[in-house]
Amino acid sequence: MNTQAQITPGMIHVINGPNLNMLGKREPDIYGAFTLDQINRELKVRADALGLSLDSFQSNHEGEILDYIHAVFEQGSAGVIINPGALTHTSVALRDALSMLSCPIVEVHLSNIHKRETFRHTSMIAGIATGQLTGFGHYGYHMALDFLHSLVG
Ligand code: DQA
Repeated sequence: MNTQAQITPGMIHVINGPNLNMLGKREPDIYGAFTLDQINRELKVRADALGLSLDSFQSNHEGEILDYIHAVFEQGSAGVIINPGALTHTSVALRDALSMLSCPIVEVHLSNIHKRETFRHTSMIAGIATGQLTGFGHYGYHMALDFLHSLVG
């Protein structure tokens, strides 16, 4: 697994947290039928068309995600798209790591977290993110990319 950020100037970093490697098989009625590979492939095509470089990272381990964000911090980023999965609702450490970054950060959720169980209504990340896209399925990642392109492209 890639735990090292691959950075070039102007690179967009896409981070997916726990259980998102199971997309396609995992509760498709909630999260959709697309696999994470399909989402990442489509995003790459869109990024190429926009002239943006993209590095995609997924981990089920909080510490690996923090290490990746630290590498992004050290090497620089044009923008971060993050679906933190369940860490959204629990992780002060993830919020602290993302707080180090000066680039725009877009929080993405496939499902509408505000329509679901009460414990999903709280995001540790929303308060330090540039914005949150929730409930647009895999299209949310594309909306995030288009937004970042409008800033950096
Ligand atoms: C999610 C929503 C979270 O509440 C959940 O824990 C996930 C996925 C989403 O994309 O809708 O793992 O981030």
